[in-house]
Amino acid sequence: MTMRVYVPCDAGAIAVGADDVAVALERAATARDIDIDIIRTGSRGLYWLEPMVEVGTSQGRIAFGPVGTADVPLLIDALVSDGPHPLRLGLAEDIPWLKRQTRLTFARCGVVDPRSLEDYRIHGGYKGLERALTLTSDAILADVTASGLRGRGGAGFPTGIKWKTVAQATADRKFIVCNADEGDSGTFADRMIMEGDPFVVIEGMTIAGIAVGASKGYIYIRSEYPHAVAAMNAAIAAARRGGYLGAGVGGSNHNFDLEVRVGAGAYVCGEETSLLESLEGRRGIVRAKPPLPAHRGLFGKPTVINNVLSFAAIPFILDHGAKAYADCGMGRSRGTMPIQLAGNIRYGGLFETTFGITLGELVDDIGGGTFTGRPVRAVQVGGPLGAYFPRELFDTPFDYEAFAARDGLIGHGGIVVFDDSVDMARQARFAMAFCAVESCGKCTPCRIGSTRGVETIDKIRRGERVGENLAVVEDLCNTMKFGSLCALGGFTPYPVLSALKHFREDFEPAPTRLEAAE
Ligand SMILES: Cc1cc2nc3c(=O)[nH]c(=O)nc-3n(C[C@H](O)[C@H](O)[C@H](O)COP(=O)(O)O)c2cc1C
Ligand code: SF4
Repeated sequence: MTMRVYVPCDAGAIAVGADDVAVALERAATARDIDIDIIRTGSRGLYWLEPMVEVGTSQGRIAFGPVGTADVPLLIDALVSDGPHPLRLGLAEDIPWLKRQTRLTFARCGVVDPRSLEDYRIHGGYKGLERALTLTSDAILADVTASGLRGRGGAGFPTGIKWKTVAQATADRKFIVCNADEGDSGTFADRMIMEGDPFVVIEGMTIAGIAVGASKGYIYIRSEYPHAVAAMNAAIAAARRGGYLGAGVGGSNHNFDLEVRVGAGAYVCGEETSLLESLEGRRGIVRAKPPLPAHRGLFGKPTVINNVLSFAAIPFILDHGAKAYADCGMGRSRGTMPIQLAGNIRYGGLFETTFGITLGELVDDIGGGTFTGRPVRAVQVGGPLGAYFPRELFDTPFDYEAFAARDGLIGHGGIVVFDDSVDMARQARFAMAFCAVESCGKCTPCRIGSTRGVETIDKIRRGERVGENLAVVEDLCNTMKFGSLCALGGFTPYPVLSALKHFREDFEPAPTRLEAAE
């Protein structure tokens, strides 16, 4: 009988040796005349257990991890005898960290072979599109709107309204653009889903094309994601061969095709108008709005631009109905959020859950506190433009409005944890320095303000006229917040002001911490 063994080909798993483990398993099995079928999947997102290897049994998939090449001989023994092994984790589905999640978007990630259209279909893929093909454009838009889905790229704008605007625009061509620039610190959900379940992104974009009347889409992927680029290209080719892209999508009279474009590596190219400039072959500089991309986007045509996770949520909504999605969550934050736990954290990885879970549950309970074992001091949520939250704010529920009420943002769902050795004045300086480096340069508050911010925080850290310079930083932050053209300059004040508000003591003593290297 063939032994079916699943080894992730996710970049995060490969980084800790998954490819070597796959080769070692193959060799060890061949040497012992065992018929083995190694299937490369995405990651389940339990990164501290990677490489996590699973073996198919009559009861389900039994997981082992983290597996190194040295563990392979004994692992093969355990697989053959179904005997004990120190790395045996039991049924993958029963691992508590996985079981506690509500996996709607990531249901197939880590389960299916990302290169196999057939596997995607066996696991419920393309059912959303099949239903969409029986509906009118208005009915699809009504479903997306009723689901309450809000853009997962950061701003949380209702997806249904965006699509409706494009659907109502009159033009000879319209476009669908998937924002896979994923520049936020501590985020990797876009990469994971593109590597682990690329067809779900393709299906979501195809449904968008049908809903708004667009026949062409682009996926803009950051250059740092070569595995995702390869996975998306392979899946696009397979979808085309299977009749799910190109002329007559899924046997219908709709045409829709996709192309991958690779970015050159700039945080600001994740900003939608800057991304469109880059897609058109120009330098990534932010465009003034209006016009909105929904009216005049790519090549001047009405364009739906959404984050990878927004598109990836669509097939579930169309397949299971808007209500099934909208039934999860709290307030105006409906459905699930694939939360990414990163930084100094014990159990880092992807945790998809319904909105409403508190920050404290995520960091202390699910994340297990810090990797170093020291107390958690600060948590930055929402990428480099997100606020730093102290432990006192750990009762904040994961919800767009609840975070905004505390001057924070959930952004793309990245949580970066810091222990008590963190220097928050240094983090505030980093926020300004990051803005200075990544600024597209179009507007003065961001271009000049961020550099003045770095200089002023340096003065504070050297103990120079601390009170006066703190006032200058606060003033500068207000200018950037209200005078910047886009959220790079407009939101950089959030990490800076939150560090000042919640960790003021780090700015006050005569600091001696200024590294010469900075
Ligand atoms: C500086 C900056 C960087 C951004 N980077 C990203 C990004 O990497 N990925 C993303 O989806 N959205 C990013 N956004 C948000 C996009 O401008 C836009 O809101 C998003 O692509 C819309 O898709 P959504 O409605 O599905 O979230 C960024 C915004 C700014 C201001
Ligand atoms: S805020 Fe910064 S990144 Fe945004 S448009 Fe202005 S200069 Fe460019």
